[in-house]
Amino acid sequence: MHTLALSSIVKPLLATLAAFQLFSFHTLASAYKDGRVVLGYFPVQRVVGDIPWSSITHANIAFAFASETGNITFVGNVVNSTLTSEDNARNLIAEGQKNNVKMLVAVGGQGNFSDHLALALNAPASRATFVENAITFVEDYNLDGIDVDWEYPKNLAEAESLLATLQQLREALNTSFEDSEKLLTITLYNHPYLGPNVPSVDYSPYAEAVDYGFVMAYDYFGSWTDYTAPNAPFIDVPFYQGSFRNTTDAWLDAGWPASKLVAGLAFYGHSSVVSVDMAANTTNQYVPISNHTSLDGPVSGISGTWTWRDLRDKDSGALSDPTTASSGWVRTWDSYTMTPWLFRKADNLYIGYDDKDSLGIKMDYTFRKQLAGVMIWEIGYDYNNELISYVRDFITQADDGTVLNNCAPSDAQLDGLYTSSRNPNFFNRRSLEARADADGSPDPSQPICQFGREDLHSDSESDSSALGISAGRSGVLGMLLVAAIAVAAV
Ligand SMILES: *[C@@H]1O[C@H](CO)[C@@H](O)[C@H](O)[C@H]1NC(C)=O
Ligand SMILES: *[C@@H]1O[C@H](CO)[C@@H](O)[C@H](O)[C@H]1NC(C)=O
Ligand SMILES: *[C@@H]1O[C@H](CO)[C@@H](O)[C@H](O)[C@H]1NC(C)=O
Ligand SMILES: *[C@@H]1O[C@H](CO)[C@@H](O)[C@H](O)[C@H]1NC(C)=O
Ligand SMILES: *[C@@H]1O[C@H](CO)[C@@H](O)[C@H](O)[C@H]1NC(C)=O
Ligand SMILES: *[C@@H]1O[C@H](CO)[C@@H](O)[C@H](O)[C@H]1NC(C)=O
Ligand SMILES: *[C@@H]1O[C@H](CO)[C@@H](O)[C@H](O)[C@H]1NC(C)=O
Repeated sequence: MHTLALSSIVKPLLATLAAFQLFSFHTLASAYKDGRVVLGYFPVQRVVGDIPWSSITHANIAFAFASETGNITFVGNVVNSTLTSEDNARNLIAEGQKNNVKMLVAVGGQGNFSDHLALALNAPASRATFVENAITFVEDYNLDGIDVDWEYPKNLAEAESLLATLQQLREALNTSFEDSEKLLTITLYNHPYLGPNVPSVDYSPYAEAVDYGFVMAYDYFGSWTDYTAPNAPFIDVPFYQGSFRNTTDAWLDAGWPASKLVAGLAFYGHSSVVSVDMAANTTNQYVPISNHTSLDGPVSGISGTWTWRDLRDKDSGALSDPTTASSGWVRTWDSYTMTPWLFRKADNLYIGYDDKDSLGIKMDYTFRKQLAGVMIWEIGYDYNNELISYVRDFITQADDGTVLNNCAPSDAQLDGLYTSSRNPNFFNRRSLEARADADGSPDPSQPICQFGREDLHSDSESDSSALGISAGRSGVLGMLLVAAIAVAAV
């Protein structure tokens, strides 16, 4: 009797749970731990259907243009003369919100967009117009917030203009909408701190005005630099300061709160042309770039940039699967910078890039530092959603407390690596590599950043794997089963 009663209750319960499971995997924005940020950038030209809405919590549409008088607009048509960028932005915003994603627009960006933004924000009158227009813009497009992307303030006076802008914007957002309803965010330079020539200041008023700072922890090396090196090394390369770890740590050390720091992940690499065959000696990733020509990604056509989509393209790509080089290419995992690189012998082309393994190490580190989350430049660079799905699964499992093996080294190991890398004989890669392995870098012969089966939070999970339910959710299942048994017993 009890058995019957129990199974008649448990079966529908299991069906409900299965539905819940399905639901949570298809609307994952809400499945992330509360407050977790997974922000995807994409240009206003992106087509609505191309965005993996279920894997992101926030989106930043790039870029709106601010004129020197403080007017904010999207410039140019999108795909054709009938679909304007304004209309495309409205489509993207509506679709994102339908999918529970908070929609922001980034104002500024690279090159002349930021030149004009600087002119607007430096003068009090145009700054006031900018703030006024920003409020109208948020209202008009029904945005969830606005991102100020000034690349970069050039001096202390401009840093102060930025602060004044943020404070005035925060106040105007508070008075025009309900307090804190609208987000105000900012992009942070890939080095400490606000810009190449801005001395360190007190960052607490900046952090106080905004909800998040998105640190652009990439673009450290490319065809414009002297040597080949990763686009986004995890720790500083031996001869240069600037990396994912250095930059995020520097912002934390400067007092930027971890809860407002979002770390940048690159879904792309940079290519450089060299004059030696790097495949002949893959222990040395650092070779002088004598020819600064940039070779564009074959599919994207973006200057010097190979997106994950370019790298994985069946015809002209470099990787036949995420970790296997296509014919004509050699792939090497660099255990010091904890990133992969590729070399094509035919034209001596080097590409330093990120893949699942290197992204996993960076995400592991953001968890350890209890940062607010990650942002991605840019979501449309993916190939069949390979990387964004990995990001989503990684965060879901990490939030569940699942054990992670062979991933980011401990802080002590990283400090040791960093110290030993300050070696004047930095081209002696073989010994550096040996030190890196001895100091605890992930072992490339084993799966890097591999989730184990153990669950840190629960000790009553024995049956959950048979049901195919992930560790964290089986706790809920267990609880409901106990409830079902209790009901059945009554
Ligand atoms: C700039 O904004 C102001 C105030 O919203 C408006 O009156 C003016 O027409 C705009 N100018 C341009 C060039 O869009
Ligand atoms: C322009 O884009 C719109 C929206 O995607 C589409 O409906 C229309 O067919 C396109 N027109 C041309 C000429 O490609
Ligand atoms: C910005 O630069 C681009 C490329 O150099 C150019 O096409 C565009 O007209 C410029 N826009 C403004 C507003 O200056
Ligand atoms: C904006 O609102 C938030 C939430 O109430 C508050 O913490 C913050 O101090 C306000 N900022 C300004 C400048 O009014
Ligand atoms: C990061 O690099 C800077 C130089 O740009 C250096 O002064 C600092 O010690 C490094 N910080 C960390 C945390 O590695
Ligand atoms: C630089 O590299 C590009 C691309 O491989 C090539 O077309 C060009 O001829 C090279 N220039 C020189 C000076 O070697
Ligand atoms: C490979 O490069 C490293 C670093 O430049 C050098 O020490 C080593 O001798 C080279 N090995 C070969 C086989 O050329």
